[in-house]
Amino acid sequence: MMNKHLIDPMDFSVEELDEIFELAHQIINDPKKFSKICDGKILGTLFYEPSTRTKFSFEAAMMRLGGKILGFSEPNSSSASKGETLADTIKMVSIYTDIIAMRHPKEGSAKVASLYSGVPIINAGDGGHQHPTQTLADLLTIECLKKGLRGHTVGICGDLKYGRTVHSLIKAMSRYEGTKFVLVSPKELKVPNYIKQEFIEKNHIEFMEVERLEDVMEKVDILYMTRIQRERFFNEEEYLRLKDSYILDAEKMKYARENMIVMHPLPRVNEIAVEVDDDNRAAYFKQAEYAMYVRMALMCKLLGVV
Ligand code: NCD
Repeated sequence: MMNKHLIDPMDFSVEELDEIFELAHQIINDPKKFSKICDGKILGTLFYEPSTRTKFSFEAAMMRLGGKILGFSEPNSSSASKGETLADTIKMVSIYTDIIAMRHPKEGSAKVASLYSGVPIINAGDGGHQHPTQTLADLLTIECLKKGLRGHTVGICGDLKYGRTVHSLIKAMSRYEGTKFVLVSPKELKVPNYIKQEFIEKNHIEFMEVERLEDVMEKVDILYMTRIQRERFFNEEEYLRLKDSYILDAEKMKYARENMIVMHPLPRVNEIAVEVDDDNRAAYFKQAEYAMYVRMALMCKLLGVV
């Protein structure tokens, strides 16, 4: 039995994730078969924070399943700007919709929403905390392009402190046998201790923390680049000092393994030079495509239509 909501990447067991990926493959192979499966269903998209990919891919996903969409991407146009509580907004929206995807700047907000919602809540990013559907996209990408999810050395580079996609990916990958992590960040932006202790050390996963990307290029099977999360900094000067800490370019790619893949949740700012896009190891646009299919599969499962 699937969890009713998706708030945290650990809400689903590895077996349940396999079911979602299996369904995503079925959709990729025969999209027509699923094009009316959500006929009559409405997805509510509540985006209290900017988004292009996540919002579009949720909306495209529901449209491709034959459902409809209702929502906002500008909180100032919603009653939140009049002071309505999140609890009231959710109670109300869950009367009008069948499933809700929500992004909010506050950590824990999706969990709060799930306590008041009569319909499934999908966390589309809560502050600097978690982003479980990006992780579904990341895992499906790894599964497809690296032939399975076990035995990979995963390099994660950039803002490991505030990057919610990083936190969710570490949690999720820590459950697969043979995972190793190479964590590359400035010392100010290291992975938070609670994640390191609870998910890496507790599971006895081999890992290293380094500051220089050059030193580890040849060690990794997957290189997950991330943006420095400007909006989470308390101090703009600190952001300006750290913003160009890492730039992956063709020169650095020379040191990478032949079958390594480069991932990025996007948007990129400056951390992957455009010249890398032509390298056949660049997987970030494919990753954005898988994101839509995996969200289609997720919504089918949460809505119980398959
Ligand atoms: C990420 C996010 O919102 O956390 N974007 C996304 O959903 N693909 C990554 C980011 O903004 O850096």
